[in-house]
Amino acid sequence: MDFRFDLIMEYLPFFLRGTLYTIGISLLGVIFGTALGLLIGLGKMMKNKLLAFPFLLYISFFRGTPFIVQIFIIHFGVVPAIIGTTNGIAAGIIGLSLNSAAYIAEIFRAGIQSIDRGQMEAARSLGMTHTQAMRHVILPQAFKRMIPPLGNEFIVLLKESAITALVTVPEIMYWGRAMQGKYYRVWEPYLTAAVIYFILTLTISFLLSRLEKRLATE
Ligand code: ARG
Repeated sequence: MDFRFDLIMEYLPFFLRGTLYTIGISLLGVIFGTALGLLIGLGKMMKNKLLAFPFLLYISFFRGTPFIVQIFIIHFGVVPAIIGTTNGIAAGIIGLSLNSAAYIAEIFRAGIQSIDRGQMEAARSLGMTHTQAMRHVILPQAFKRMIPPLGNEFIVLLKESAITALVTVPEIMYWGRAMQGKYYRVWEPYLTAAVIYFILTLTISFLLSRLEKRLATE
């Protein structure tokens, strides 16, 4: 089997620019997803079950349907309804953010519920209100525990963002498919894409494990 390195060299600039798109939309996805996920997580934890229900529905929907279905609905339905035309990059960022918000809402809830209830009781017995205890005692500890799972979520989004190639986001996989289409080759485009994704995820998980060790010793 011949392996055409020259074709890889030809497409390398595109793959590198695609890598920036992959990192960019995934980063925006976790950032918006975290903001939205916190709200949804709080909403789901409300005592009033009726008020909490829409948040429960949101989480169930985004975790219970495939991302590819969600992104097609957003790309061909939601974005055109808002701006009158399709826009792959907007659809990609919105899709990743809405999807990860559902997962992050659960990360958030797990983080809060993992704090020993004695912490709340102690804070209340010192005279703090529930809100004060949440703000000054529970949340700071919960946030620290949320950092590793949020990092994992970023890795998941990096890989999941490959699906946005199907709605024309010019990220890594988009160029892989373009290269396959032009030269009718399989190994060169997809091994290149795999190597890039692998380097990205390895680097991030290395950085995350270092961060986790730092947090553990504090
Ligand atoms: N692969 C899953 C799907 O097609 C999506 C997983 C998204 N996970 C996440 N943590 N954001 O539905």
